[in-house]
Amino acid sequence: MATIVRKQETIQDKDQVKAFLTKKGLVYESYKTPESLDLILGQKGLSDAEKEEVLSGLEYRFDQLKKEHGYKANDLVVLHDEVPGISEMLAKFDKLHIHTDEEVRYIIDGSGIFGFIIDGERFEVHVGKGDFISIPANTNHWFTLDKNLRIKAVRYFKDNSGWTPVYVDESKVLINA
Ligand SMILES: [Fe+2]
Repeated sequence: MATIVRKQETIQDKDQVKAFLTKKGLVYESYKTPESLDLILGQKGLSDAEKEEVLSGLEYRFDQLKKEHGYKANDLVVLHDEVPGISEMLAKFDKLHIHTDEEVRYIIDGSGIFGFIIDGERFEVHVGKGDFISIPANTNHWFTLDKNLRIKAVRYFKDNSGWTPVYVDESKVLINA
């Protein structure tokens, strides 16, 4: 369940979280992961074969999202403290940036923090297992792991041509720091 952290308040109620994010132009849903995947998702790392197993266990969700949003591809990202080059990987995305395509994530294990600057307001969305979020193209955001340093997330794509971060100068988009 996601938590919104704003300067003036923290929002934890599911309906209020969704309402806040919808108002900010983001798509948010909460989708329970199937119990049949609990054991494998409880592992820290996954082999390529195990990643395939997870994706096929979530094929029904992909089918639903294809119909609703038109996604064409998906893959699974597994990050934890022993992944080689993890710091460099995180450093690429923990600074304010946009993409020319939407960024879509379904968190199926672990947790992380998406930060945004939308309408001049900076806020964070702390995501965990079951959270689905879609960030439209050209939305100012960043992403980082929290102290647990562990996440498994399915990424959904319409195409991956826009998949490089374009960095944004915070001072130009921030009204209330
Ligand atoms: Fe991004």
